[in-house]
Amino acid sequence: MKKQPGWALPNLKDAQVRTTKEAVIEKSLFQIPEQIRLLGQGKKYYLRTYGCQANERDSETLAGILEEMNFTAVEHPEDADLILMNTCAIRKNAEDKVLGEIGSLKRLKRKKPDLLFGLCGCMAQEEDVVAKLLETYRHVNLIFGTHNIHRLPELLYDVMVNGNRSVEVLSKEGDVIENLPVRRFGKHKAWVNIMYGCDKFCTYCIVPYTRGKERSRMMEDILEEVRILKAEGFKEITLLGQNVNSYGKDLHMEGGFAGLLEETAKIGIERIRFTTSHPWDFTDEMIDVIARYENIMPFIHLPVQSGDSDILKIMGRRYTREQYLTLFHKIKERIPHCAISTDIIVGFPGETEEDFRTTYDFLEGLKPAFLHIFPFSERPGTPAVDMPGKVQPSVATRRVAELEELCGRLHGAFCAKAVGSEDTVLFESTLRGGMMFGYTGSYRRVKAPYDRTRINAICRVRFGAMDESHDLMGDILD
Ligand code: 5AD
Ligand code: SF4
Repeated sequence: MKKQPGWALPNLKDAQVRTTKEAVIEKSLFQIPEQIRLLGQGKKYYLRTYGCQANERDSETLAGILEEMNFTAVEHPEDADLILMNTCAIRKNAEDKVLGEIGSLKRLKRKKPDLLFGLCGCMAQEEDVVAKLLETYRHVNLIFGTHNIHRLPELLYDVMVNGNRSVEVLSKEGDVIENLPVRRFGKHKAWVNIMYGCDKFCTYCIVPYTRGKERSRMMEDILEEVRILKAEGFKEITLLGQNVNSYGKDLHMEGGFAGLLEETAKIGIERIRFTTSHPWDFTDEMIDVIARYENIMPFIHLPVQSGDSDILKIMGRRYTREQYLTLFHKIKERIPHCAISTDIIVGFPGETEEDFRTTYDFLEGLKPAFLHIFPFSERPGTPAVDMPGKVQPSVATRRVAELEELCGRLHGAFCAKAVGSEDTVLFESTLRGGMMFGYTGSYRRVKAPYDRTRINAICRVRFGAMDESHDLMGDILD
């Protein structure tokens, strides 16, 4: 497909550039011109989100923008005039799912020729994906990336009024754009971005290319958002960043993430979580703040990726197995009730059976509360693509299965430890069979007989038996 005037296509080379230039904090960039504000009048949108919490939060912004343009949300793509896919690029299977979905939704266009398709998020930042979309998914009318969500009104205008196929993807370090509208999807739990992007460049990971450089929001903007959420009745917030530990480094501020966490805790919202932390720069001050504040939940997601120091080295993780172990135990000593979960990639290039056994034994001894296990997936443009020692997919699949089995045992033991004890639970919604469910601060799942007055409430609960899914039966005490 020939490039058309006005298109901005992704470029992976530009996306990996890091300069010393500071990110601009834009406080009034977003606005909707009057003639565009009514574009969605009488029109319906269907938004589907793939991937991580950053994408979930971006979708809340996309929904906020569309609703300011008078679009109405619908739950089924069949009812929509605009279908927007906010996509994830972390692994190939995530991408295949999206492409399959876009392909199958094309049939709706037969019944509704004016139906519009848009694709945004991390996949839009990839050269090969956009080339494929332009060439073979001709029903996709709009493609934009992670850096220019605020441009959605103008881009939609270009598609809906000018009848253009619109492509605007910026491969740049990125800025911080405040003042974007938001429609929160949850009533009791909310996401709060504290920073964007990643500069770690782990050798397998596409994120630093799709989401730009590490850049922090101003502390006061974050705290103000938390104050508003508290006033609106939200019970739990999760502070979001690809690596929250890096918070504030670009702002040359004192205190960093530990300082932000403490100030957030002082606001007094009932539950604070954060994700994700890189083991490399997890400070003693952070451990200290988590230990001191009751409203910071005793749960840390601390991806290790491998238990073998040689593999960690070629992954570019900047720590050894021993350093991870030391950090893990330091946290456990200071906060004994703190749960720690982790991510593992199996089948990384060069991972021998012996390396895998090392990882397996490491995890078995470590006993994290939960494992998220991923087979290595080649991401175009990342260094791991060219590394020797490719692991057969069937071998990787078997290694995943072995770790899944281990995870089942570890998680079962973690949940079983709580039987007979008490803790607080935020009940969220209903489970089949007249039950409601919620989570403890340490992410143990709890069920109890449905009681409408307890939904969205934090209750003191005693835990009875654990079932085969590791759910604890809860007896509400207050
Ligand atoms: N292949 C497999 N898993 C990956 N992850 C990131 N990139 C890849 C990849 N190319 C995993 C890591 C990370 C989690 C969010 O996704 O474990 O922590
Ligand atoms: Fe990817 Fe590593 Fe950054 Fe995490 S820290 S987003 S794994 S590059």
